[in-house]
Amino acid sequence: MSERKATLKVDGLDETIELPIYSGTIGPDVIDVGGLTAKGMFTYDPGFVSTAACDSQITYIDGAEGVLLHRGYPIDQLAEHSDYLETCYLLLYGELPSKAQKDNFVSTVKRHTMVHEQIRTFFNGFRRDAHPMAVMCGVVGALSAFYHDSLDISDEHHREVAAFRLIAKMPTLAAMSYKFSIGQPFMYPDNNMSYSENFLHMMFGNPCEPSNISPVLAKAMDRIFLLHADHEQNASTSTVRMAGSSGANPFACMAAGIAALWGPSHGGANEAVLEMLEEIGDVSRIDEFVARAKDKDDPFRLMGFGHRVYKNFDPRAKVMKEAADEVLAELGIDNDPLLAIATRLEQIALEDSYFIEKKLYPNVDFYSGIILKAIGIPTSMFTVIFAVGRTVGWIAHWHEMISGSYRIARPRQLYTGHAQRDFVPLDKRG
Ligand code: SDX
Repeated sequence: MSERKATLKVDGLDETIELPIYSGTIGPDVIDVGGLTAKGMFTYDPGFVSTAACDSQITYIDGAEGVLLHRGYPIDQLAEHSDYLETCYLLLYGELPSKAQKDNFVSTVKRHTMVHEQIRTFFNGFRRDAHPMAVMCGVVGALSAFYHDSLDISDEHHREVAAFRLIAKMPTLAAMSYKFSIGQPFMYPDNNMSYSENFLHMMFGNPCEPSNISPVLAKAMDRIFLLHADHEQNASTSTVRMAGSSGANPFACMAAGIAALWGPSHGGANEAVLEMLEEIGDVSRIDEFVARAKDKDDPFRLMGFGHRVYKNFDPRAKVMKEAADEVLAELGIDNDPLLAIATRLEQIALEDSYFIEKKLYPNVDFYSGIILKAIGIPTSMFTVIFAVGRTVGWIAHWHEMISGSYRIARPRQLYTGHAQRDFVPLDKRG
């Protein structure tokens, strides 16, 4: 690490405080504030807007330029030339695989796509109308109860097997949560199919006839998974790291990530975008909703707009928009009303001074729902799809932390409650 330092002058302290500065490969430098505790102070950064919680080599985001790199490769190049499982390999191992490495990785994932037969009974404990994210929180956490041979986080082999099991089983469990909700039989994976083709087979196939999966839809599904694969230290990934820092097993950590992703400010936004577009209903009502989004007294926000890091276009949104146009054209869906509303809403918002001043652009969730709807995925499954794609990012960050040196994450606080006071007996209270 470099010898550069930040010098802090604190009112009431005689001496200044010197704090080391570290530089990464690219991106902002960081100031190591660990020395403040010895001086009786903490940093204060609610929402971690200006906090680097770790160092990582997996993904780099430049919010001002709208750049997203996975192990140095731009997301638009990966979306155009790679596929989801190859991107999984890249995120996990740091390099693009050779042909032999890729074939071996894909065949290993395929050997883990089934879930333990007893897991099928878990679903019966849920109401049919349970939100599939509630089901996924439950069944993914429950994997800890089945795979005792990959729970020793200190064992590199256990960690690798857990990674394969999670990448392979998430589509199976996701499809099972959908089939359960519609009362159809679970479909077993068909390992003669590609990863995304197999997912659509398990989602829409039935035991009474062979699946006939459109290659167009399979490619669109694969690109959706790829575009959701990882995104640096976002809320759900940070949750996975936090859970992992206590030594929790990888399945429990993924369940924590799924829970954090569910919120409408995070992964739940894709479902909220479709609900918003359906509520707008017609381009003539867009101005009314844009006005609501700008009204400080109205809690309504334009879902799929804005981002903590991107203050420019989310590069994934650009690829997603191109994919939406392609998929709808290839499916012969002209003038999709929701796409028309989304496209017009984007135009209006990007010309509006409120959105320009606050640097609010479409994010990954704005167009993804259009594609998912065209594929036939129900809105309630949108965030589950996000979770399936993001599983590799959660695992890659968990593995990067656990295989390095780490400590339990334990933030402090600015305490604003009562100073110490004595107990008041019940008969002495007002
Ligand atoms: C994801 O972190 C990641 O990398 C996440 C993600 C990933 O891949 O993991 O990229 C995936 O979660 C994408 C974001 C999906 N969420 C949404 O689309 C929900 C709508 N967006 C907002 O809720 C909001 O933009 C956030 C949550 C995404 C970002 O919130 P911030 O960074 O805390 O920003 P903020 O809420 O402080 O907003 C700054 C200002 C505020 O106005 P002021 O108080 O300064 O006057 O912008 C306004 C906000 O009111 N604002 C919006 C808005 N988003 C922010 N106003 C209207 N509509 C919006 N969508």
